[in-house]
Amino acid sequence: MTTSAARLAGIEAPDEPLPVFRLLRTVVDNPIKAWPRALYRERVYRSRVVGRDTVYVMSPDLIRAVLRDDADNFEKGEIARRALGPALGDAILTADGPRWRWQRRAVAPIFRQERIRAFLPAMIAAAVRTRDRWHALPSGAEIDIAHEMMRTTFDIILNTMLPGRGSIDAELMERSVTSYLESTSWIVALAMVGAPRWVPYPGMYRARRERKRLHLMLETLILEAKQTPGERNDLLSLLLNATDPETGQSMDSIDVQNNLLTFITAGHETTALALTWTFYLLSLHPEIEQWVKDEIAAVTEGGPVHPKHIDALAYTNQVIQEAMRLYPPAALIVREARRDIELGNEQIRAGTTVCVPVYAVHRHTKLWCEPDRFDPSRFEPEAAKTRNRYSYLPFGAGSRTCIGQNFAQIEATAVLITLLSAFQLRLRPGHIPEPRLRVTLRPAGGMPMRTLRRW
Ligand code: HEM
Repeated sequence: MTTSAARLAGIEAPDEPLPVFRLLRTVVDNPIKAWPRALYRERVYRSRVVGRDTVYVMSPDLIRAVLRDDADNFEKGEIARRALGPALGDAILTADGPRWRWQRRAVAPIFRQERIRAFLPAMIAAAVRTRDRWHALPSGAEIDIAHEMMRTTFDIILNTMLPGRGSIDAELMERSVTSYLESTSWIVALAMVGAPRWVPYPGMYRARRERKRLHLMLETLILEAKQTPGERNDLLSLLLNATDPETGQSMDSIDVQNNLLTFITAGHETTALALTWTFYLLSLHPEIEQWVKDEIAAVTEGGPVHPKHIDALAYTNQVIQEAMRLYPPAALIVREARRDIELGNEQIRAGTTVCVPVYAVHRHTKLWCEPDRFDPSRFEPEAAKTRNRYSYLPFGAGSRTCIGQNFAQIEATAVLITLLSAFQLRLRPGHIPEPRLRVTLRPAGGMPMRTLRRW
């Protein structure tokens, strides 16, 4: 299949490394803009800022070493702990070693394949609520799809992971998370120059306030759960009943809060962004949108979406995969070397930050043909089979790979087909949504789109 080549929102990489002050200013604005062109062409790249090394790894064999084969020599490290630790504590996403392992084991049952399948009706129901909300608007009304997708996936995470667990104010939560994440680029810039943790930065007090607000919401939820014990099988019960096999200890309230917040944020932000960028790409490629629509119509035969339809939507899934290649929601994976180690020909000293710049790997000129072009046929089964596993990493790789991958894939398909069957979405003319890294890859200025009814 051929596809048209619309000019897509992207990043103009600087030809040369930026001088230090410009580099730091750029990192605060959007860290990806500071990545030099070499990241899109070379196997590995070393940057040195005020005497501190950061090594970027783009070659699949080296990525495999960092994330899988030599994973014991790399940990989440200082940057992840500084950026996310204040909000997420030492929970599953940020913890290392045995503490990480038992938290991962504790929540694994909720991510078993048959369990995830059982969540599908709740996912479709949430998408239908969004569809109905849009139907109440005049046709052609403009909405921010980024915000709408956050709302939808938030609805899904609560109704699958914490069903019947009282209410959390979705709007407030989204504002607090966004506000918190805004400050993280300052934290990264300060960590890059080795500034101590106490150094203040713009937005620090607001971030603290938002963090407190988020934890208060969860504290209430946990208190309610403890007051009404009973046979439940949701995420909160798994966390409350988990015991560390090494110490025999259970999680205290703070651990439970940190993990809940991790799952609520990691579990809805990323999928919402995958959907937002997919709608963006479809809006600019009407012929691909038409193929997706045709596939949906053929599979569902014009009726409502059913769980059995999800696996049959091969082309639709390729579209989502390609959207996550161009705009990976988790665009940067960061580790820190625990000891001196050799990586390819690079000597890595203990304490060095090692980055897998997923956004650049997915647009690497040696790994992808015409990397900036939207072309879902890259994910046809034959093409995907010949590709190195470590050149496509939307969900990471190795033991720290995303625990919610299957959940997210089913969820994204369910939401996309429910909404696309009812609406055509068109980007506001002239709007260019710069992909901005704030832990996740968000469209700067949102994603304003017109909703045009199909029925
Ligand atoms: C399109 C959607 C998603 C994307 C692109 C994504 C991406 C990722 C990536 C790249 C990692 C690995 C980070 C690293 O190695 O440092 C990760 C970890 C994680 N993700 Fe996802 N994720 C998505 C959806 C979800 C969902 C739906 C959930 C939960 C319901 C979830 C929960 C987690 C958790 C708990 C971890 C930490 C796992 C660990 O360290 O053991 N994610 N995700």
